[in-house]
Amino acid sequence: MRILGIESSADETAAAVIESTSDGQIKLLSSEISSSIDLHTLYGGIVPEIAARSHLEVIIPVINQALADAFQDTTPEKAWDQIDAIAVTQGPGLLGGLLIGVLTAKTLAIAKNKPLYSINHVQAHIYSAFINKKANSPQLAALSLSNKQPVFPILALIVSGGHTQLVFMKDHSNYKVLGQTKDDAVGEAFDKVAKMLGLPYPGGPSIEATAKKGDSKAFKFPKARLENTYDFSFSGPKTAVLRAAQKVSGNDFTLPSNQLPSVLSDAQKADIAASFQQSAITTLVDPLLAAEEQFNPKTIVIAGGVAANQQLREQINQCVSTPVIYPDIKLCTDNAAMIATLGYFQSKNTKPVNPYTLEVLPNLSM
Ligand code: KG4
Ligand code: ZN
Repeated sequence: MRILGIESSADETAAAVIESTSDGQIKLLSSEISSSIDLHTLYGGIVPEIAARSHLEVIIPVINQALADAFQDTTPEKAWDQIDAIAVTQGPGLLGGLLIGVLTAKTLAIAKNKPLYSINHVQAHIYSAFINKKANSPQLAALSLSNKQPVFPILALIVSGGHTQLVFMKDHSNYKVLGQTKDDAVGEAFDKVAKMLGLPYPGGPSIEATAKKGDSKAFKFPKARLENTYDFSFSGPKTAVLRAAQKVSGNDFTLPSNQLPSVLSDAQKADIAASFQQSAITTLVDPLLAAEEQFNPKTIVIAGGVAANQQLREQINQCVSTPVIYPDIKLCTDNAAMIATLGYFQSKNTKPVNPYTLEVLPNLSM
């Protein structure tokens, strides 16, 4: 079975084709991503209107490119003959972007007469770990895949710009959200702290690079006490970063955060970045370890944009005893391969949706 995935929930417009084998292995045939991130850098975060306009411009070329990459020796029309179903992100995400992806998928499903599956973006992040083979094509040459697929039960930590969730999955359709963030998502906290330090958006990679030059023990940011062991909180540490930065720069709490970049030295910025990164990692790792002990998973999956963080990976590897799968960094951040993969597993258990009535769900939860 071959599935075309379509993703447009944030600032990436993506399309991908996967092929499933009879034993449930997932082979990636193509993965095309067009990001409008450069247009948002100026504003320090995604501007929904700008993202939506960009999705509208590139979605058809991105889909055509994904089909051309997947079926290199055929015409575009023949390429469609090879597609058995379409999977599209229904939510959660930004309304404008979701509307463009879903409307495109609905139209294609009707015009090309293909079954359509609606996908939860957050759940799909876990499914990037199921992609274990790839086509021999130049576009996918740099992608490194784990040849093993996750084995159930799976403990999954989803860490992205919009979501932070710990999920225990007994199988594809039987899962429980053990905990989630009570306020900011971890990636959002990285982005906000980076903005305070005057580091470029997206904040995760820039904090990680700056942290390498700093001392992670220079500042101690408090960890929130939460009722549920498996929940997370990042807004307290974020405010603690602000206060610490104001103080170390010789100012008080009245100094606006947008003036911090000019009053902090490079060494102070590096120490703050390293200490914040460490506190975020500890906030993620403690509940993960507690859940590993209580639920005894066979595989741990770490997915979402923040899973690209090498320090996070190292510290998780040092303390867990369960095998961990980290998808390739290109599959950790938003992509359509994960959407197509969840679409495949969903197609085995559920009926396709009606393309005439499918609606977007910006606040969809797992
Ligand atoms: O999964 P993703 O591409 O989009 C969402 O669904 O949100 O995640 C984007 C988030 C951003 O907040 C970005 O700052 C963060 O992932 N990120 C990182 C790193 N690379 C990306 N955070 C920490 N360290 C990184 N190396
Ligand atoms: Zn995402």
